[in-house]
Amino acid sequence: MEIGEAMRLKQGKEVVLAIPDMQIPFHHKDAFNFLEYIKNKVKPTKIVCIGDSIDSHALSDYISNPDGMSAGHEHKSALEYLKEFYQIFPKGIEVDSNHNNRIFRRACKSGIPKVFLKSYKEFMQAPKQWDFLQHIIIDNVMYEHGDSVSGQVAARTAALGNMRSTVIGHHHNSAGITYVANREVMLFGMNVGCLIDNEAYAFEYNKRNKTQPTLACGVIDKGVPILYPMIINSKGRWVGK
Ligand SMILES: [Fe+2]
Ligand SMILES: [Fe+2]
Repeated sequence: MEIGEAMRLKQGKEVVLAIPDMQIPFHHKDAFNFLEYIKNKVKPTKIVCIGDSIDSHALSDYISNPDGMSAGHEHKSALEYLKEFYQIFPKGIEVDSNHNNRIFRRACKSGIPKVFLKSYKEFMQAPKQWDFLQHIIIDNVMYEHGDSVSGQVAARTAALGNMRSTVIGHHHNSAGITYVANREVMLFGMNVGCLIDNEAYAFEYNKRNKTQPTLACGVIDKGVPILYPMIINSKGRWVGK
């Protein structure tokens, strides 16, 4: 194989919109409008939610805010927003993640077998054309949540570990694209960031961090990763383009 040819990224066929962690109902006020704008701009052929679409703060293993909503109220609120979200995206895939699966961890701790539990699709009231998977490979690119890798180079670590280009979320504060190549192949790792409302009580833990959430989403256009940052004004609102 010619080196010049081999060092190209693998070309794909699909245009994938990778939706980052939204942590609904603690998502950014303009998250859905921003995503709809990007959808209309790039005309994706596939939609992948990279996980943590819902926060389930009240079901956390960590201490949850005593002034916050109960688990029931929080989920009711999340469902109202999800209804709106699924109207924009009636078809898609969501990969497994540490926030979406909080209810299953709680059940497991309490010794409740899965047979008594609802599926993701049921409890998130997702349309028929949504699939919930551990991970998915599209055009030879892996889409996974990213909670199995750590640090600012998590996306790169994930790509190297998978030995294929990889898209992750989970690490809210470090959206970006990194490339790694040898003489035979070139891979990318992309972290699509998040679309959260950083002022929400669910993110109290992040208040004193030096780095703050990187608001963005990702598009993988026939194998080529593009990061779309959500540009905000001084009031924290999306500028609209
Ligand atoms: Fe997250
Ligand atoms: Fe996560």
